[in-house]
Formats: sequence, structure tokens, C-alpha cells
Amino acid sequence: MSGSLLIDGSEKQAVIDVFDNQGGVLFAHGSDQRRNNIFQTKLFEDEFASVTGGYCAVVSSGTAALKVALKSLQLEKNRKKIIIQPFNFIAMAEVVYDMSLSIVWSKSDASLSMDPNWLESYLKENINEVGAVCVTSMLGSVPDLINLKKICDKHGIPLLLDACESFGARLLEKDLSYYATVACYSFDFGKTITAGEGGAIISSDSKIISYCRSYRDHGHALLPNLPRNLDSASCVGFNYRITELQAAILRVQLKKLPIILERYKERYSLLKSKLLSGGFPSDSIRRTIDESIELGDNLFLCNLDSNLNNRIINLLVENNHGIKNVPNALNWHDAYFWLHLDGGIRQDPNVIENHELLSKSVSINIDITRSIADYDKLASLICNLIFLE
Ligand SMILES: Cc1ncc(COP(=O)(O)O)c(C=O)c1O
Repeated sequence: MSGSLLIDGSEKQAVIDVFDNQGGVLFAHGSDQRRNNIFQTKLFEDEFASVTGGYCAVVSSGTAALKVALKSLQLEKNRKKIIIQPFNFIAMAEVVYDMSLSIVWSKSDASLSMDPNWLESYLKENINEVGAVCVTSMLGSVPDLINLKKICDKHGIPLLLDACESFGARLLEKDLSYYATVACYSFDFGKTITAGEGGAIISSDSKIISYCRSYRDHGHALLPNLPRNLDSASCVGFNYRITELQAAILRVQLKKLPIILERYKERYSLLKSKLLSGGFPSDSIRRTIDESIELGDNLFLCNLDSNLNNRIINLLVENNHGIKNVPNALNWHDAYFWLHLDGGIRQDPNVIENHELLSKSVSINIDITRSIADYDKLASLICNLIFLE
């Protein structure tokens, strides 16, 4: 919850403006005169791309973004294996099943992202069957993208990044999409910026983004010099469009990004530094990659014994602090629980090992509307717990 907490009259006004200034045209295409040539979806794509870099195609959800992005890679028929990580939101796995491909669960590294050493050895043995490597930046983290990209590039395998939970995180001063063949974002109600629903695909490859724009729009070739219904299909597609109302809201939310990030940073940095200076073990705070900036929407504690883990959870509840998905929503974020997708999932050693790591973790929600002093106090309370151990 972040952009959603800052929704005010400015989003409301943007919706009204679509009626007042844009003739009430709610569709992204056509009616040029009635809408005074104002195209919110197109404008948002340009503005979002100017923040991330690359080209942008907006779609109806983060899940749709993952589906269209994986489609855009146009995998060869014999490359059916898609490598994904077990600490994940369920969407990536659903997309792989939906496309009749098969999942390979990766090993997790200390930060619970995909382990580059494991990836290297897996690709060496199975290179001819793998279609794509799909890394997810969970809870605003920065995976080891430099090494993962190096390995993918060396083996000629595309790297799809699910950055749905991490818009705003950076690595070496660049948006995370910079390190992927194609990256996906979500604008659902829990994400950095939101229109209730929505998603985006970013790539530096203009052909990938042209494909995504056509795919989300029934395959329309979208030729600029032809009226919309006279063009032909450039691919088999689907409808994953958003409305102009969503795009208008997203444009307002995007303007709020600097304040959202600043508020995360103040609270996250203070909580982290106070915990460390108060004696909290550094290897119990999720490892960060050098020169990376996590989104900061949570502080992820790991390697906790079950007693301390439970006491931290109780302390958070007693003090009215939120827990972000770990452990309260693990059913949807830990592959170990997805028996409805694959009855044999609990036999996979990488899934089991990751589940054990997650069982020792808790993610403290950072709420940008709470005072900084609240996080100062929380750090002291947690440090007191350690000394009582
Ligand atoms: C990591 C991750 N990927 C994908 C999605 C799917 O996004 P959406 O809810 O917009 O479909 C989510 C949403 O929770 C997510 O957290």
C-alpha cells in the first residue's frame, strides 16, 4: 500500500478531466476530434518509459504483463522449460501453466532471489530445453541482476524480470528493467503506484514492445497512417487494454513517485540503521546487492529462530504495525503451497529449501503515512526482544 494511501482530489480531478476535456472518450483509440486529440494511455506510456528507460506497453494487470511479455519472447517449440523462483507471487507460475510450458524451480540465494551459481550450472546441463529465465524482485528487493544477466547473455537465454513489487527500486542508478530483456510492472492497489488495476511492460527492444502493444489489442498492427479498423493483424492477440480513466489516474500517481520513494527511504533507512546499531544481527536483515536501492516498502528479516520470529510477529501485531506477505500471505507467495498447480511440488528440493528459509522470515510493512518516530520506537522494541532472548 503506497500510492493508494496518497489518493486524493488530484486523481478525482484527472477522472473528471477525461469527461470535461476529452469528451468522455474512455477508450485508448480513435474519436480523435471528440477527445481533442488527448490520449491518456499513450501519454502514460511515454511518461512511465521516461522514468524507467526503454519502451513501454501498458496492459490491464501485472499478470497480463507477465503473459504478454513471455509471449513476446516467441520461444522456439522445443524450449518449453521456464525457470522461475519459488519465492514468488503465483502469477508467474499461472502464466507458465496457461501457456502449456513447464516450470523449473530455481534455488534461492541468501536474499531469497534466484541463485546465479545454481542458474549457471542448470543452464550448462539443460541449455537446449530452456526458453526463458524469469526472475522476480520480491518485496522491493534487488536480485543479483548483474550476474543473472551475464549468465543469460552468455547462454543466449532471455531474462524476464517480474518487477511488479518493486517499481522504484534501483541498481547502479538504473531502473531494474535495464538489466532484463523484458520487465513487468503492476499497478494493482498494493503497488508503488496504482489505478486499482493495471500493468506495464518495459524493454529496450522496440520490436518486443510493438509486439506487446499489438498482442494486448487483438493483434492490431496499429499502423499510424491507417484508420484503426482498416489495419490487419500482426499477430494472434487478446484484449489486455486499460481504459483512459485508469491511464489518467496513473499519470497523477506517477507524479507522486518522488514523494512515495522519499517517505519509504526515511522510514526504511531509520528502522534498518537503528536495528543494526541496537545490536540486531546483520545477517538477519535481508542481504542487499552493492549499489542497489531497495524500494523500501518493507524491511525483510530472515534467519530468525522460530521463538524470535514469533515474538517479533506478536510485537508487530501488538503495536499495530503491518506484516507484508511474509508470513501472513505465504499461501500466495511461496510455491510450497501451490499443490493445486502441481501435486508433486513438495518433492522439489529447491521449493522445500526456499520454504524453510521463508519459515524463518518476517517482512515488516513500511507505512508512508506513519510517523518516522513510530519506526524509531519499533526498532527499540525489537532490539529489546533480542536482549531478552
Ligand atoms: C511479484 C508479483 N508479480 C505479479 C503480480 C500480479 O500483478 P496484478 O495483481 O497486477 O495482476 C503481483 C501482484 O501481486 C506480484 O506481487
